[in-house]
Parts: sequence; C-alpha cells; structure tokens
Amino acid sequence: MPESGLTAGIILAAGEGTRMRSSLPKVLHKLAGRTFLERVMASVTALDPGLTAVVVHFQAEKVAEAARSYDGQVRIVQQDDCPGTGRAVQCAMDQLRQSLDPNGYVLIAASDMPLLDTDTLRGLIDHHVRTGDGATVLTANLDDPTGYGRIIRDQDGRVLRIVEQKDATGTELAVKEVNTSVYVFDVDVLCQAIRGLRDSNAQGEFYLTDALEVARQSGTVGAFTAPDPLSVEGVNDRVQLAVLAKDHNIRVCHELMRSGVTILDPATTWIEDDVSIEPDATILPGCLLQGHTAISADAVIGPYTTLIDATIDQGATVERSRIQETHIGARASIGPWTYLRPGNDLAEDTKAGAFVEMKKAHIDHGTKVPHLSYVGDTHIGHDSNVGGGTITANYDGVHKNRTEIGSGVHVGAGNLFVAPVQVGDEATTGAGSVIRHQVPEGAMVYSTNDQHTVGDWKPEWER
Ligand code: UD1
Ligand code: CA
Repeated sequence: MPESGLTAGIILAAGEGTRMRSSLPKVLHKLAGRTFLERVMASVTALDPGLTAVVVHFQAEKVAEAARSYDGQVRIVQQDDCPGTGRAVQCAMDQLRQSLDPNGYVLIAASDMPLLDTDTLRGLIDHHVRTGDGATVLTANLDDPTGYGRIIRDQDGRVLRIVEQKDATGTELAVKEVNTSVYVFDVDVLCQAIRGLRDSNAQGEFYLTDALEVARQSGTVGAFTAPDPLSVEGVNDRVQLAVLAKDHNIRVCHELMRSGVTILDPATTWIEDDVSIEPDATILPGCLLQGHTAISADAVIGPYTTLIDATIDQGATVERSRIQETHIGARASIGPWTYLRPGNDLAEDTKAGAFVEMKKAHIDHGTKVPHLSYVGDTHIGHDSNVGGGTITANYDGVHKNRTEIGSGVHVGAGNLFVAPVQVGDEATTGAGSVIRHQVPEGAMVYSTNDQHTVGDWKPEWER
C-alpha cells in the first residue's frame, strides 16, 4: 500500500474566498448537496493518512466545527494573520511536526476543489513514491488556464517553478498546464522548503507554490497530471461553481442512463451523489433528487418533482410534488401538486392526490386521499377513502394529537377530524361532518350544520 507512508493529509481551508462575495466561508458552500470541505475531507481521509488536519482562519470556528462534525479525529490548525497558502502550511507544520513520521510524506490539498477524488490522489501518491521525488505537484491541462498558477518546466521537461497568474509574463500566461493546489512532499523536504518563504509578489502573500523552487534546490520536484481535469477544478466564484455543478450533474445523469434509467432531460434534472435509482425507472424533466433518495424500477418521477431522502417503491408515480423523508409503496400514485413533509409511510396502491399535504401519516395499502386534504399525525387503515377537502385538526395550540381511522372507512367530503379521535373499521362519515368523538366500527355518523332558507332575497345594494 503506497498510502502507508502518508503521515498526514493537510487541507487548506483558511481563505475567505473573497470572490464568492458571501457571508459564508467558501469551503462551506455546497456542490450537489455536500460542502466543498466535506467532499475534500472524504477524499483525503479515504487514503487513511496518519492524521488529517484542516487549516482555518476566516470564520475559523464555523469551519472547524464543520470539519469536526465530519471527522471527530481531525486536527484543527489556526493560521495566523499572515495570508497565503504557504503561510497556511507553515502554521500547520509548526503545530503538527511532532506527530509526523520524519521519513513519511505529507499530502496537501486546497479545499476549494469539490470534485477532488480519492483515485486522483492515489495516482499522485503512487507517482510520488515511484519516482522518489522529494515533492510532487498535481497538475492539469486546461483549455482555459485563466486564474491558475502555471507550471514552468525546463527544456528537459523538469518542473522549475510555479508562477501565479498575477505574477506571470506573457509567455508564461500561454502555458496551459496549471497547478491544482494539491501536492505531496516528503516531510524533511517540506520542512526545508517552507522555511524561507517570502511575500514579495503581486498579492503580498506567502505562496506555497514558491516552496517548490526551494524543494528543487534540495532534490527533485515532479509533476503528476490529473487524468480527469474536472476532478481538480477549483471554485473561486459562483459562476465557476455553477459550471462545475452542471458538468458534474451531467456526468451523474449519464452514468445513471447508461445503467438503465430513463432521464428525459438531463439538463433540467439534478441528482445528488447519494441518490440511487434502479434500471427502468423514469425521471421526467425538472426534478431535484436529493439526499439519500432511493427510487425503484418502473417508478415514474416528475415532471417538476423534488425528492429529499425519499424512498419510492416499484411502479409508483410522483408528479409535480415535493416529498421529504417519506416512504412511497409500490404502485402508489402521488400528485400532481402533493406536499409530503417528513415522516410519512404510504403503503402499496395508495393515492395522495392534488393539493394534499401530509405529515407523519401512515396510510395502509389501497387507501386513497385524492383531493385537497391535510393529513397529519394520522394512521389510516387499508382500503379507506377520504373525501375531498378533509382536514385532520391535529394541533390544539399546545400538543400534536393523533387521528386513528380504520380500514374500509368512507370519509365524506369536507370532514374535520378534531384529534385525538378514533374511527372504527368500515365506518362511514357524512359530508361536512366535524368528528370530535369516537366512531364505532361499522357505524355511520354525520354532524349537522343547519341549512336555513331566506326566500326571495336580494343583497342590500340591489334592493
Ligand atoms: C492557488 C494556487 C494556484 C493554483 C490554484 C488552484 C497559490 C499561491 N496559488 O491559487 O497556483 O493554480 O490555487 O486552484 O497557492 N488558503 C488558506 N490560507 C490562506 C489562503 C488560502 O488556507 O491564507 C486556502 C484557501 O482556503 C483555499 C486554498 O488555500 O482552499 C487556495 O486558496 P485560493 O485563494 O483559492 O488560491 P488561488 O488564488 O486559487
Ligand atoms: Ca482557488
């Protein structure tokens, strides 16, 4: 295992990310539902380094907390007021040196590259170990290298140094090979190389990139080119974020389509990484599939549907709806315009139709709630039907109360169930009833709402 010599993974997350123009630190912005920081930490910790450290400064506590909540073992390093990626590494090494294997090597990665993946990092580390170089930089060849540091090589192709966009000459700017801000350094080489960094450059910062030039004087510096440029693209502003998110999403969609999922329009279908979809499911345009959503075969989702941590069983249909933390059984029919808030479980062959809202509702097989209803904190048995415009009044201003409706029940249109209340199996309730008391099994109940007739009547303004 080449990783065994990996004594530390250091993630740089101290920058403000000014170009995002955000009150949120850049690394806590999200791509496909997960923060940049979480994504990079996941890729680095998968290599099982001796320790993982995250360098923080801007909104330090917030970033540190996010890092700790992802990995309780993470070492947090405070960068001082001197700016620059080089300074970040100096601060890290000051704090971590005691804990490092002096014969090992250290992986350093920026945290503003949300698609950085473990395979790319493995490729970089393998290359570092194989060549025996003292330092190796992960590079990428980009059609448009604007904004990145350029890799300057000598006639024999050896890496000489990295020059930042703002410090580069015209010929240097023409170089398309860029620094991705990911490096592997032997521990001793790194300690040497960061010692004499200076901030005499266009941005007045301590550049980590300058450390490579020092490293070259004490040994060799190599470069490994990332096989997939998308995986190492950095995000500095929200335009770049949108482009990257779109490119990533198209890939996710294409992969699912190749596995047998029908996606009518990948351009308007957004699918997060932890979503699973079985072959022969169909996703219509305008869907957002998020969190740990799981969709079974033959389900038809959309158009215009949001699923968040939802489970959709085989053959169910969900049209123009929003569903969160809810299980939808096989062949159930949901929508259009249905809002299922967290905690519902709808069994097979159920229906929740237009303008129906549910919360913590358990609906047994074959039961239908077709129109304009609110069902909350409720269990309904199997093969019942709920008339349009029915409301469970589950909240008395202090407590949430439960409604229990049996199986084979016919609920008339426009009913109001004042919870807590129970309705027995095979019961029928008349239209417009207000059900405040228990309904026995097999009974028919109705509550009156007197109809008064005033004959030959005109409104005042017509008289
Ligand atoms: C950096 C590289 C550039 C490379 C590019 C790739 C330097 C000098 N330049 O430029 O060669 O092509 O990344 O995306 O390294 N950070 C800190 N402390 C700081 C400043 C930054 O921890 O004081 C962190 C940031 O949080 C970020 C990373 O370092 O995760 C890179 O910082 P950023 O300001 O985005 O550097 P670039 O200008 O993109
Ligand atoms: Ca950057």
